[in-house]
Amino acid sequence: MDRFHYHDGVLRCEGVDLEELAAEHGTPTYVYSRDTFRTHLADLTAAFSELHPLVCYAVKTCSNLHLLHELGAGGAGADVVSGGELHRALTAGIPAERIVFAGVGKSESELREAIAAGIGCVNVESESELELLGRVARSMGRTARAAIRVNPDVQSEGTPEKTTTGVRGSKFGIDLERVPRLFARASLLDHVRLTGVHVHLGSPIHSPEPYTVALTRVLDLVDKLRADGHEIELVNMGGGFAAEYETGAAPGWGVYADAITPVLKPFVAAGGKVVMEPGRSIAANAGVLLTRVRYLKDAGRHRVAIVDAGMNNLIRAALYDSFHFMWPVRPVDRLAPPTRSGWIDLPGLTGYDIAGPICESTDYLARERRLPTLAEGDVICIFGAGAYGMAMASQYNSSLRPAEVLVDGSTSRLIRRRDTYADLIEAELGLPDSKL
Ligand SMILES: Cc1ncc(COP(=O)(O)O)c(C=O)c1O
Repeated sequence: MDRFHYHDGVLRCEGVDLEELAAEHGTPTYVYSRDTFRTHLADLTAAFSELHPLVCYAVKTCSNLHLLHELGAGGAGADVVSGGELHRALTAGIPAERIVFAGVGKSESELREAIAAGIGCVNVESESELELLGRVARSMGRTARAAIRVNPDVQSEGTPEKTTTGVRGSKFGIDLERVPRLFARASLLDHVRLTGVHVHLGSPIHSPEPYTVALTRVLDLVDKLRADGHEIELVNMGGGFAAEYETGAAPGWGVYADAITPVLKPFVAAGGKVVMEPGRSIAANAGVLLTRVRYLKDAGRHRVAIVDAGMNNLIRAALYDSFHFMWPVRPVDRLAPPTRSGWIDLPGLTGYDIAGPICESTDYLARERRLPTLAEGDVICIFGAGAYGMAMASQYNSSLRPAEVLVDGSTSRLIRRRDTYADLIEAELGLPDSKL
């Protein structure tokens, strides 16, 4: 599953001692395993091999250039949702034809940048965006390759409302019955080649059924569009595979692939191309966040550990009530965790609230978590933090965003330095020279 393991009571990433890494780079620091990123991409691609998919890694998940470069070198393309993400993907060396661009609010300049770069596909999310794409492409004397993001109206069980995207009334995509009108309109636009259908249901999707239901609807639509005379070359099934945050809680890629492959295989056998946009399932367990205990105190009935990472560094617990397994990197009595589940049945554990330093009452990374006895100065590892961790980090409370380190075997390198005070204020130009 990943390369973070306890050896003799000390946590290592691949061959690197994480206590030493925390001492070298300070905390909070994100640590990624290169091997886990590469293995996850390879295993996912292999699971779906019969569909020969183009795997466009969702850049929003974890967008460090070095990681994008690794994934690109492993054959991945990129799913981007902004000009900034497009810039990252291109800078990391991902070939433009392997980039797809979704998002409900693309600006004119973002569309221009995408067309100028020659990306593989713009996933159009509204009638007005299609018109704008046509105008921009015409003004550039270029032809934009495009797909329509459809809203298949599929609800998936267990996916939080806050991260569901494929149900009626959502701002994402276009309702199925409206799509033929857009293809008819696009056929009149000289500078748009509309030949694909895109769908993304939300995240995480805990079972294959929502995909098979949605893709069956999408393929019915493809048949209808073809009958209307449109050429359909591509189906993009989006992302959303669940990640293993808690032992045994997420299906493996094989489970999704076994159900989805038979649905899409006839499309592929007839020459169609399949794209997918996984993010979380590749990145979540390829990264952890190291944080140090600053203070221990009692609050009412609770023992509270105030750590140096908060919702500014990893917002998922505060925003979605998400679960992250955590454990000290060098636990007292070398007590390695037997599993990464929410309830660990070992003698001698203490319940702690793990709170960050931010001035918000939601700034907790965990509540009443049973852990080996903590001391001030201990380093705690927050597992499953590779996806939507650093990518959603902010400078709230004028805090410094963490460093990022990439481990490769027994070596490690800093792939993003920690913010400095200069980073905090450098964009705020022109302070008047007057004395207060
Ligand atoms: C269009 C699109 N594709 C792919 C993804 C990635 O989803 P996940 O990280 O669950 O695989 C997202 C996530 O929000 C998305 O909006």
